[in-house]
Amino acid sequence: MKWFSSRKGRVAFLSVVLAGSECVALAQSTGGFEDEVSYLNDIRPVIENFCASCHSGDDPEGEMLLTSYELARKQVERGELLERINDHDDPMPEDGLMPKHMRRLFAIWAETGFIDRGKEKPVRRSEYQEFSPPEITPVDVSREGFELLEALQGHWVGPMTLMGQKYDWMAFDYRAIAPSHVHGIFEAGTIGNLFTSFFVTEFKGRKTIMARNGGVLNGIYRTSYFVLTDVRKTWRGTRYKLVDAFGGDGIMWMELTFSGDRLEFNSYTSRLGLTAPKRHMAFNAQRKRPELAVAAARSVGFPRNVVDFSMPDPMPVPTWVSEYPQTSQTYIAHDEGRGLSLVQLGTEAQDPRLASQMPHLSTLSVSIERNAFTAGKPLHIYLSQKAITDSSGKLITRGGYVREELIDTLLLYPELNGRTDSFTFTYLHPGDYFLTVVADMDTDGYPSPGDITHPATRISVRPETRESVTVDNLNVRN
Ligand code: HEC
Repeated sequence: MKWFSSRKGRVAFLSVVLAGSECVALAQSTGGFEDEVSYLNDIRPVIENFCASCHSGDDPEGEMLLTSYELARKQVERGELLERINDHDDPMPEDGLMPKHMRRLFAIWAETGFIDRGKEKPVRRSEYQEFSPPEITPVDVSREGFELLEALQGHWVGPMTLMGQKYDWMAFDYRAIAPSHVHGIFEAGTIGNLFTSFFVTEFKGRKTIMARNGGVLNGIYRTSYFVLTDVRKTWRGTRYKLVDAFGGDGIMWMELTFSGDRLEFNSYTSRLGLTAPKRHMAFNAQRKRPELAVAAARSVGFPRNVVDFSMPDPMPVPTWVSEYPQTSQTYIAHDEGRGLSLVQLGTEAQDPRLASQMPHLSTLSVSIERNAFTAGKPLHIYLSQKAITDSSGKLITRGGYVREELIDTLLLYPELNGRTDSFTFTYLHPGDYFLTVVADMDTDGYPSPGDITHPATRISVRPETRESVTVDNLNVRN
C-alpha cells in the first residue's frame, strides 16, 4: 500500500493556490523584448509564478533552489534550465511549457549579461487591456442546482492528478457549516492550506451558488470566487460548472460531476489569464464515512435553500487591479514575513469574506515538544476518525505501512518542517478526532518503521472555539 505517492504531493497540491503570485508577472511578462531583461523586473516574477512552488523551501524538487539572483543565474549558466523550459518532452514546469515570450526572457537575460536590477519599467497592459469580462449568468437555485450542496457532503477519498502528476491518495472532508454552506479544506502545514466552500448567495440579483476557493501558500493569501453557471445531466452523472466570478471560463472554472457516491472534480486555470486555460486538477473520489457530514448537517440545520450571505454588488475590486488589469475575482495579499493573521491578510486583500466570518468552524493549535531524537525532524500531524496508533503509541501497520482502512479515515494531514514546533488548524470542522504526530525520522514522507510516534490523543473540537493541545510524549520508536 502506498501512501501519497510521493512527498511531492504536499508541494504540488499547494500549487493549486499558486494563482496568488501570478498577477505579479502579468505586467512584466507582457513586456516587449526590445527592452532590457533584468532579474528583478522579469526573471523573478516568472520564477515566483511558475517554479517557486517546487523549487523553494527546505526540500526543493531536484534539490535545486531558484530563490535568489545568484541561484537563478547559476542554473541558467549551467544550461540545464534553458534546456528544460524549452523541452516539450520533459518540460519545466512539469505540467507544460510556459508561453514562448516568457521562456525567451531567460535566454535574453543570459545574452545581455544577467542584469540584476533593471530600470523602473512602466507597467504594460498591452495583452490584458484587451480582456473584456464576459456576461455571467448565474443558475437560479430556486429552480435548479441547489442539490449540489447536498451532493458535496462527505469524506471524499481517491487518486488525484495535479499539474500532470499523479497522487494515489488524497482526501477532502466536506461538511455543512450553515443551513446553505458546505466547506472542505486541505491543510499542508508549514507552507499553507487550500480550501473550497460552496454556499447560496445573491450574485447580480440572482439567488445562486458561489464557491470561495483559496488559502495561503508560502505567505501569499489568495481567494477566488466562482459562480454556478451550468447544471446538466451527462452520461457520467450530474455536472455542475462554476466559473470565475469576473473572468468566466476564459480565466478559470471548476466542474464537479456526481454519480451516486462517486465524484469527478476537475479544475481548469489560465494563471489569471497568462495562458489559455488548461486542466489543472482531476480528483476521482469515492464518498466514505458519510456519518460525519450527516452529523454536521443535523447540527447546523442543513440543508435549507436560503441565502447564506449576500455578496456585495459589485464585489470589491481586488487591490492588484491598481497595477494590472482585472481578469479575475481573485483577492491577493502578500505577508512578506510580517506574520499577519488570516483576517489581517484578507482585509488587506479586500476579500469580501474573511476567515472570521466563516460560521461554525474552529481553530486548533497543536504544540509539539521535541526531544533529542526528534529535534530537527519533519513532523506529520494527523487528524483522523480512527486511531492510527495502538495504546502503546506504535503505528498500527500491515506490511510496514499504516493499515489502509485507518489511512482512509484521515481527515487532515499537514506536514511541518524540522524547525517548526507548532501548528494551527484553521477553518476546522468541529467534531471528535484522533490526533497523532509522527516524527518522520527517515524523511520518506509517510509513517514507516523507525519513525517516532505517541499514543493517539482524542480531541473534541466544539463549534466556533479556539482549542489548543500540547503533545509532550512523542517518544515511541516504531
Ligand atoms: C510541480 C513541480 C515543479 C515545478 C513547478 C517546476 N519544477 Fe523543475 N523540477 C521538478 C522536479 C520534480 C525535478 C526533478 C526531476 C526532473 O529533473 O524532472 C525538477 C528539476 C528541474 C531541473 C533540473 C535540475 C537538475 O539539476 O537536474 C531544472 C533545471 C528545473 N527543474 C527548472 C525549473 C524551472 C526553471 C521551473 C519554472 C519555470 C521549474 N523547474 C518548475 C519539479 C518542478
